[in-house]
Amino acid sequence: MSEALKELYAQHSDCTGCSLSKSANNVVFGFGNESSDVVFVGEAPGYHEDKEGKPFVGAAGQLLTNLLASIGMKREDIYITNVLKCRPPGNRDPLPEEIEACKPLLMKQIDIIAPKVVVTLGSFAARVILGKVMPMSKIHGQPVKTDGYLVFPTYHPAAALYARTTMTSLEDDFKALKELLDSGVPHVREEAKTEQLGLF
Ligand code: URA
Repeated sequence: MSEALKELYAQHSDCTGCSLSKSANNVVFGFGNESSDVVFVGEAPGYHEDKEGKPFVGAAGQLLTNLLASIGMKREDIYITNVLKCRPPGNRDPLPEEIEACKPLLMKQIDIIAPKVVVTLGSFAARVILGKVMPMSKIHGQPVKTDGYLVFPTYHPAAALYARTTMTSLEDDFKALKELLDSGVPHVREEAKTEQLGLF
């Protein structure tokens, strides 16, 4: 792990920024390839993630692994983290104050990893990264340019586990993500080149 990430995680290992620290077993910072061009952001650790200290190791994680495999990618090719690093009891939705407390850590992680693309999984991640509420049905599968990277919003894998139509959208979005990555998407900071390629 890079010194910068190590230091960041050390600073937050005893985090008491919100009340979730009282019930969580582990602070689930993130896992994967920190040199990757792609960072995936989920919502929050669930039961298995809280137990193991790693993101997306339960049923939604298995689906994520399968979706990545469908576009020729492995978990080792990407970095995965969540909006919240501690499990909300009973997997309830994150509260606004929990999101606010945890957001600076997420933003610093992304800043250190400096990916080209941030894939948001589900509406909480999209809202935090894009800074506004937009219906997933309208925004999924379409890259949005921000200051430092492209944001690629899609559905949360957990939402697709029991909904066939969401699964189809998620599968299509992963195909679109592959096309985006294969197009050699440059870093957004290389603004001029992006314009030249006519990507947007
Ligand atoms: N759901 C998430 O959003 N994150 C995880 O790590 C696991 C399930």
